[in-house]
Amino acid sequence: MPFVFFETFGCQMNVADSDMLAQALFSLGYSIIEESEHADLIVVNTCSVREHAEVRALARIHELCVRKKKHALAQEIWVIGCMAQRMGNSIIEKNPGVNQVIGAKDIVSFVQDLVHGPQGKTALPAPDVKPGRISALLPIMRGCNNFCSYCIVPSVRGGETSIPCSRIVEDILRRIDKGTREVTLLGQNVNSYHDGDTDFSDLLAKIHELPGLLRIRFTTSHPRDCTDKLIQTMARLPKICKHVHLPVQSGSTRILEAMNRGYNRETYLQRVNAIRHAMPDVDITTDAMVGFPTETDRDFQDTLSLFAQARFTTAFMFAYSQREQTRAADMGDDVPVEVKKARLATLIDLQMSVTKERYAAMIGRNIEVLFVEQKRGSEATWMGQDIGCKRTLLACNENIAGTILPVRVIRSSGMTLTLERT
Ligand code: SAH
Ligand code: SF4
Ligand code: F3S
Repeated sequence: MPFVFFETFGCQMNVADSDMLAQALFSLGYSIIEESEHADLIVVNTCSVREHAEVRALARIHELCVRKKKHALAQEIWVIGCMAQRMGNSIIEKNPGVNQVIGAKDIVSFVQDLVHGPQGKTALPAPDVKPGRISALLPIMRGCNNFCSYCIVPSVRGGETSIPCSRIVEDILRRIDKGTREVTLLGQNVNSYHDGDTDFSDLLAKIHELPGLLRIRFTTSHPRDCTDKLIQTMARLPKICKHVHLPVQSGSTRILEAMNRGYNRETYLQRVNAIRHAMPDVDITTDAMVGFPTETDRDFQDTLSLFAQARFTTAFMFAYSQREQTRAADMGDDVPVEVKKARLATLIDLQMSVTKERYAAMIGRNIEVLFVEQKRGSEATWMGQDIGCKRTLLACNENIAGTILPVRVIRSSGMTLTLERT
């Protein structure tokens, strides 16, 4: 039986693509192993969003190729994903150990050909899903039409397309059958999902009716398209998790304009208020970057004050990285590296203290948690998430995979809540 090893960089979209390829390989008789050395096939799924992501992936590919040559391993190496799209076969020229490069735009048709043969059907692959994935990632759209000026995603993933609603529902039903209890719907901007008259809120309502599914999550919400209808739908339907990932990028209206984000500081904060008003216990999380071209200290102070006002549960924070083929690449990269580093550290410090406070405020509360899997290396510790985005741990000897249990929060260790049964 052949073995495949996956190494996935980048966002959840890449995790979902790796999963799709894994399912296809599984239906062809492959098993997944955790040790790359003994694999017959190694798949490296790559990200291009920041230069650092590419540097890491290239270093890993180089290392795998050197080992393959040194030990004369009969191993295939495939490089897939966004960097594969951007660099194409130049990856093979620099790393002759690589056998195939499959870009992010081609992965769906590649997987179809793998399963059905090149003349196969046009539908998404539907190999038997492996059992046991309680929480599944499910792309509902691919690509992006937004052209935020700093972002390489539209050029490596292409324009936005929505997957038909009927196909999404079929896919979820098949997964429920195999044990899935929670789905996370993925798209670069899920709020612009549409299939005929069905918008994203309608899609959520349809999925909400599916028996056997306990929870529905989604990401990412674009602040410009986060409508009142969506907020009301979330508030009304109990299986929809009360978590909105709403990337702000900057707290400065001037910078937001230069980023082409389509909202300003005030309208962003209005969205935050509308969400909290409809769902008082909601978790709002964000992405932000420091050091966008021309960002002044004053602009950065605006980001700090927005963070202080919005009080996000958690945030992903980055230093701006100039990317080829983006509009911001023409604006220079004038904020010195040391300034970016210092601003990033200040922002992370502020957010860490808010995160700690938010988690600590949960101590003593009775909540419901969906348990997904055991902690690695500790069979009696179960991991799960509350109805928001908070990670939790419960000591328990029974198999509670896929069940929602009422629990009480007894401790917070910064970014994880420790629970006891009630
Ligand atoms: N579609 C999502 C996420 C895209 S990429 C959205 O619209 O928010 C994830 C995050 O990476 C972005 O939210 C942004 O904060 C960050 N990012 C994107 N391009 C970047 C760049 N050139 N430099 C630094 N961070 C970047
Ligand atoms: Fe990039 Fe903007 Fe599209 Fe997100 S919405 S993927 S940041 S272009
Ligand atoms: Fe995701 Fe990175 Fe591609 S963030 S869409 S894997 S460029």
